[in-house]
Amino acid sequence: MTTALVTGTTAGLGAAFARRLARDRHDLVLVARDGDALRRQAAELHDRHGIEATVLVADLATDEGIEAVERRLADPERPVGLLVNNAGFALRGKFLDAPVADELRMLRVHCEAVLRLTTAAAGTMRRRGRGAVINVASVAAFVPRGTYGASKAWVVQFTEGAARDLAGSGVRLMALCPGFVRTEFHERAGLSTDDIPGWMWLDADRVVDAALRDLGRGRSLSIPDARYKTLIGASKLVPRAALGGVSARAGRRYGPKRAGRPSGDAPERPNDSDPL
Ligand SMILES: NC(=O)c1ccc[n+]([C@@H]2O[C@H](COP(=O)([O-])OP(=O)(O)OC[C@H]3O[C@@H](n4cnc5c(N)ncnc54)[C@H](OP(=O)(O)O)[C@@H]3O)[C@@H](O)[C@H]2O)c1
Repeated sequence: MTTALVTGTTAGLGAAFARRLARDRHDLVLVARDGDALRRQAAELHDRHGIEATVLVADLATDEGIEAVERRLADPERPVGLLVNNAGFALRGKFLDAPVADELRMLRVHCEAVLRLTTAAAGTMRRRGRGAVINVASVAAFVPRGTYGASKAWVVQFTEGAARDLAGSGVRLMALCPGFVRTEFHERAGLSTDDIPGWMWLDADRVVDAALRDLGRGRSLSIPDARYKTLIGASKLVPRAALGGVSARAGRRYGPKRAGRPSGDAPERPNDSDPL
């Protein structure tokens, strides 16, 4: 079985990718910032599935972090057969609410790291004539929602273009666009999920199953779940500005009244939305 390198495995979708790939008996390179959590996860996956799980502690918002992962991906002695660029995060608030430094950090993790890691992996994969890259975007790629949506739109465009350029090389690339998934994503950003209807939520393990199924079918774009396929299909008929409004209502920052949850230090505003 091949080795898979997954970024952002300490929570959510990345943890679900690691579980599924370990169950399929792939050796793993687990990447995130929290070294203790990574080491616990590696031991657990090794004990449960008998696979080799290696830890690579890296902050993908830094040059050193990206470089460390690039080096591992380009190592011809230890080829990586599947790269999953999954690490990501949301920011609270509208344009001009978040410091520009945070927006730049997002572009670094969502775009620069994805570009550099895909390049490092795909180069080695092309020489071997086989391999695959999954870049985790979002349905927010199709909705005008600030830097988050723009960064995910870049992921989709970049991945589909690179997939076309590498067609026939044995290297497959696919952008994965989930809708709302139950993970730590919203809580980490301090975003309330109270206004998101139950039917919109997806399960992380099912998203991963759908993604790997679509990769196996040779797709370059995966939108898990029929509900979201329909929504995105319908969105082509709806003005983009109206879609931004819908997405804005589907999640607001935690308000000061909500006990037991992080409280925003600014009053709730209608457009403090969950970007997916
Ligand atoms: N949840 C949703 O509704 C949803 C919907 C569509 C798309 N997505 C996308 O799915 C991906 C995974 O999100 P999730 O929902 O699973 O979020 P999550 O539960 O918050 O997990 C995020 C993971 O990314 C890692 N990470 C964050 N910043 C990092 C950095 N600078 N360097 C390295 N690792 C970093 C975190 O690990 P450490 O903190 O240990 O570094 C964590 O393992 C993201 O790209 C997100 O945009 C999520």
